[in-house]
Amino acid sequence: MSEAIIYELSAPGRCAAHLPRLDVPAAEPLPDALLRSELELPEVSESDLVRHYVRLSQLNYAVDIGMYPLGSCTMKYNPKVHEDIARLAGFAEVHPYLPEELSQGCLQLMFALQQYLAAITGFEAVSLQPAAGAQGELSGVLMIRAYHRARGDTARTRMLIPDTAHGTNPASTVMVGLEMVQVSSDARGNIDLNDLSAKLDDTIAGMMLTNPNTLGLFDEHILEVTRLVHASGGLIYGDGANLNALMGIAKPAELGFDVMHLNLHKTFSTPHGGGGPGSGPVAARADLAQFLPGPIVTAHEAVYSALSGEALDIDADDPVADAPQYMRSLMCRLEMPEHSIGRIKSFYGQFGILVRAYTYIRMLGEEGLRATSEAAVLAANYIQASLRDTLPLPYDRLCMHECVFEGRVNGAEDIHALDISKRMIDYGIHPPTNYFPLVVPEALMIEPTETESKRSLDAFIQIVKAITEEAKKEPELLRTAPHRAPVGRLDEVQAARKLILRWQPEP
Ligand SMILES: Cc1ncc(COP(=O)(O)O)c(C=O)c1O
Repeated sequence: MSEAIIYELSAPGRCAAHLPRLDVPAAEPLPDALLRSELELPEVSESDLVRHYVRLSQLNYAVDIGMYPLGSCTMKYNPKVHEDIARLAGFAEVHPYLPEELSQGCLQLMFALQQYLAAITGFEAVSLQPAAGAQGELSGVLMIRAYHRARGDTARTRMLIPDTAHGTNPASTVMVGLEMVQVSSDARGNIDLNDLSAKLDDTIAGMMLTNPNTLGLFDEHILEVTRLVHASGGLIYGDGANLNALMGIAKPAELGFDVMHLNLHKTFSTPHGGGGPGSGPVAARADLAQFLPGPIVTAHEAVYSALSGEALDIDADDPVADAPQYMRSLMCRLEMPEHSIGRIKSFYGQFGILVRAYTYIRMLGEEGLRATSEAAVLAANYIQASLRDTLPLPYDRLCMHECVFEGRVNGAEDIHALDISKRMIDYGIHPPTNYFPLVVPEALMIEPTETESKRSLDAFIQIVKAITEEAKKEPELLRTAPHRAPVGRLDEVQAARKLILRWQPEP
């Protein structure tokens, strides 16, 4: 019974809804042409229904259940106050077609968020449009192409991408119609400056860089890298997925980045993955701002009636506005940047997510954001230092907000990163990222985030140590893991190729 799916629980005549007796005149039934007799909906009682959904929720792992050290994903705890604020009727029930004068509160929140993100990154302008990091990348690469085209330079058709880059970087490049050129990393995990210099010429539109990179390492030559690319006429795209290491410490614009995206669902603690939609705003330096996707929110000082609050047709600079019957206040508008690449998403981005990110920034303030990044970096280094004798560490230097080990165990040569990860599920924690970045064989990429306590970091470290001992004594336990999950080891290739997304009756 516990595995039964809602269609299997169905029995004719059961119903979870109890409507009161009809106390108004009955309406005409819908015409037959609008009814579907073959539509089989489950007929279940209220308790069947509640149990079904609670059972489903228990099959899921979530950051609200335990540690989620999925590297590069920044699965930090999502404070519940964000949900309270996002559910305020003025935010949750607002319609996107509401005229600007009736949605000033929402627009002012978006304007403030644009300003905060600009201040955190050091850029001049921000668009909140993109709905994911990957969409932010697509926007940024389109902007780089538009920038070169606007200068009449159509020969720059190639994008440099490091061998540590996330797969979305080459994907965005190719979607824009540019060619990807791979740049190698050196032995310390930095960009190999010789390889970079050899690949720079006047066909290079720019370079996509993640800093800290996906090895969790801050590029020790970042200023030289950005200088070299600029000197050859290219622009630097910043993949801001790893901004959680830098807030309040380093501004990407000051490191030489020209345009970058931020993942609000990572750094700014909005729900992630199955937990909610993403948001990947793009920030740009002043001369690229004209190409940002739009609309973006602009703010102008306007004059209002002190009595009715109505906006008046009086210039804010006009001294008449000093009269007591008037007041000045901000008037926000939605505007398309002059040479915008256009809309990348309907309306104005994921508004509910923007509210949560705004709340996060306001709750933490400048000092809190810096403390967040410092704690994230400390937590990753604590794990790296605690496990360096347990798992091979390919780049043995201070890391930033995440660390990357090789998932290999001395004395258990047949054990792979995947076996270690699957066994972690039996211990009740989510595995780290596996097999990425590609430059590390059997990579296990661990990002603890600042929201894990020392106790949970210690528990994680003990679990990894226990698993490596098991690998030596009882390797089969790892190879056949997980043993305590709702499903055992899946054929992940088949699962990805032959997706079954809905229940199907037994033939
Ligand atoms: C380094 C890096 N870049 C880009 C992305 C893409 O972001 P999104 O998943 O929001 O599209 C990710 C996602 O994990 C990432 O880790």
